[in-house]
Amino acid sequence: MQDDGIPTLKGWSEAELDAAFAAVCLELDTEAASLRSVDDLEAFRLHWIGRKQGRLTAISRTWLKNAPPEAKKSIGERFASLKSRYEEEVKSAALRVVKAEYERGTPARKQALVQAAENLEAEYRELKARAREKALDAEAIDITLPGRRRKLGAEHPLIRTQHEIVRIFQRMGYSVGLGPEVETDYYNFESLNFPPGHPARDTQDTLVVAGQERKPLRERLLMRTHTSPVQIRTMEQQPPPVRIVIPGKVHRNDAADATHSPIFHQVEGLCVDVGITFADLKGTLDHAMKELFGSSVRTRFFPSFFPFTEPSADVQISCPFCGGAGCRKCKHSGWIELLGCGMVDPAVFGFVRQKQPLYDPSRISGFAFGMGVDRIAMMKYGIGEIGLLYSGDLRFLEQFG
Ligand code: DAH
Repeated sequence: MQDDGIPTLKGWSEAELDAAFAAVCLELDTEAASLRSVDDLEAFRLHWIGRKQGRLTAISRTWLKNAPPEAKKSIGERFASLKSRYEEEVKSAALRVVKAEYERGTPARKQALVQAAENLEAEYRELKARAREKALDAEAIDITLPGRRRKLGAEHPLIRTQHEIVRIFQRMGYSVGLGPEVETDYYNFESLNFPPGHPARDTQDTLVVAGQERKPLRERLLMRTHTSPVQIRTMEQQPPPVRIVIPGKVHRNDAADATHSPIFHQVEGLCVDVGITFADLKGTLDHAMKELFGSSVRTRFFPSFFPFTEPSADVQISCPFCGGAGCRKCKHSGWIELLGCGMVDPAVFGFVRQKQPLYDPSRISGFAFGMGVDRIAMMKYGIGEIGLLYSGDLRFLEQFG
């Protein structure tokens, strides 16, 4: 024992700690067993956990202060269990002491104890009720608050336009064809009658997949520059007649500006059957443009060139903004150029016949057309910058909700 009554630790080994703690515990148990009155109990409490002279407090402070770092955890754990031992002792001693006091008490003392117990119980009940109230508050809902509005999704203006175009042709009996965005040189160019080295290829520069120099040109992969390769893919899969529209994303090495984007969208069309003529092509596209822009819109066809159609034409529609009178939108010409088309070149059927002999240009004929979805969407919705369609900017997109 030291002068202040705190036992001295002989060392920091587990065995020495065990012995020291066992001694303190024994002291605690012996003292607890001797408690007889409520006053004893209060003295016991002060003796062990009083803030100034409490033994547990003082022992823990002294032992921990002197302990080497590696023993601190061990001592801490032992104090924790000593502390709970103390709390159990207080609980059982309190019951015992109060019972004994009650039994030997005068009637007045008895009544005071009963009153104290009742007060305690009332206090306990109130605490419990308050806790329950708090818990209820925490989960309470305010039924007068407006509901949480779930935002409705909306079709992107590009997709909406694409669907609209596709539906116009579906109503005319067309079905939908799809194809890969990473395409071979053969389907994107050669089979569409762009021979290797042909200058028409230069108008459709694109990204090519790297590291394919050892493959023959026709097998090399690139990002498709138009949806036309799906014409060939479809005809290879299916004998005539064919009536399909092909919506999809295409890529070109174009610098971005207000009307150009290196990624854009097209809807391609192909109709092949016995006896298809240029009149069918004109009638079909004229009808489609009226459906798309209103029945007062007129169309006109100009000679043009595409390697895979012969003859080829560019189609203009009368300006839907000014009705043909001339405005800024149509550069005061009254007309807007909107799509390319033509009669399928027999050379294209020649490529397809390698797999589907029924595409015999002496027996069947067809027309094809292609239009830019982005441009049409921009016209329909008054969008001045193609980049907005790819910006993902909600302030722009929410206007279509
Ligand atoms: N593929 C052409 C382009 O991207 C568009 C086109 C023109 C498609 C005429 C056709 C067509 O099917 O007949 O420039």
